Amino acid sequence: MSQRPLRVLTGIKPTGVPHLGNYVGAIRPAISASNAPGVESFFFLADYHALISTHDPVRVQQSTLEVAASWLACGLDPARVAFYRQSDIPETTELTWLLTCVAGKGILNRAHAYKAAVDRNRDEGEDDDAGVTAGLFMYPVLMAADILLFNADQVPVGRDQIQHIEMARDFGQRFNHLYGSHFTLPEALVEEQVATLPGLDGRKMSKSYDNVIPLFAPREQLRKAVFSIVTDSRAPGEPKEPEGSALFDLYRAFASEAETTAMREAYAAGIAWGEAKERLFERIDIEVAPLRERYNALVADPGAIERQLRDGAARLREEVAAPFLRELRSAVGLHDLSRPLAGKAAANEAAAAAPPQFKQYREDDGRFYFKLVDGDRLLLQSEGHDSPRGAGQLIARLKREAGAGLHHVEQVGVHLGGDLIGRLGEAVAVEQLMEALARFAEAEL
Ligand code: TRP
Repeated sequence: MSQRPLRVLTGIKPTGVPHLGNYVGAIRPAISASNAPGVESFFFLADYHALISTHDPVRVQQSTLEVAASWLACGLDPARVAFYRQSDIPETTELTWLLTCVAGKGILNRAHAYKAAVDRNRDEGEDDDAGVTAGLFMYPVLMAADILLFNADQVPVGRDQIQHIEMARDFGQRFNHLYGSHFTLPEALVEEQVATLPGLDGRKMSKSYDNVIPLFAPREQLRKAVFSIVTDSRAPGEPKEPEGSALFDLYRAFASEAETTAMREAYAAGIAWGEAKERLFERIDIEVAPLRERYNALVADPGAIERQLRDGAARLREEVAAPFLRELRSAVGLHDLSRPLAGKAAANEAAAAAPPQFKQYREDDGRFYFKLVDGDRLLLQSEGHDSPRGAGQLIARLKREAGAGLHHVEQVGVHLGGDLIGRLGEAVAVEQLMEALARFAEAEL
């Protein structure tokens, strides 16, 4: 396979003008990562997704504009990265349907967002699906299409989105298994220590707590917000602790190391809260004033943003999405009637090229399990192990011994050298398991 740069894809939900917490925790790091060498970055505004949570067209349009302008104002450079609006690439919805037809409904039933809605309904004595649109239910498939359409290698997400990336892998894998290898299976890139910024009341800055400082607030409004940050009652001259001080954490998110050290010393020396707030305000303003200015200029000229987004999408459609969809359509049989397809045999051959995989996981009983799957077919389901290491060692042994020493005892399970290791998947013969294991040994050679 030819070496291509690592492709990183970031989806942005249009939720309106960002606050300082969004800037420090998400926008600033994402833009700075997009400048790293050797990565190819895709950023898109997930406006199809927005339709799931709001039915207010004015709000959809307005939020999309605000979010596009925000990211551009913060330095996202459409000359270096692909920047587009999801709905400008209608191949996304076409792919959503192709994936819908391989996605397991049971998997979607288990999606956190959907399950939470069902649980709420149950708590309230409502019908399970009351108020749940099929859009909410299908959200993970649309998201998988966003990712698989561009064969992204990595998708930076928060913890709450990991399950969606796993589903994208699952749908992509099923498709590959059925129709040959078309999709790269994406990985979630989880930023373990995302900078969370405290808000005005010291809790995490979040719209739902109503404690945010808007990123592009005019200078005077920013000043007022900073001065309303909650502090304790220590008087000027009394030493103050940086630990647990929201004011200090905010300062540090913007300041250099030297500035942070100076502020730490000022705290110890008993800086007055008013003075500390003044310094914080000036420090934030130095960084955000140019962004604010750019933001205001950008929203004042929506036509320019519209052109930029359309240009970005048009290029991607032509070069990537449209040709890829042609390939996929033909893979599933939506194909020129005058040209016979190679048919199932070729597809099976392609699918057979995708190797079987071991998957490790932990069950609710606290024990560690693995299974061997070939596409969506379960070949072997392990017994529980006390540690992930125990499961891992057995997997290594199975791969190494490539099916030698395996035997199956009816009603009991699969043994390896005398130890019970698990049971076969439904309608799987032990010979099939051995064949699959032999492929691991071949791969080693
Ligand atoms: N679900 C993501 C969120 O809530 C937004 C999103 C939609 C996304 N499609 C995506 C993120 C594709 C990454 C890749 O934040």
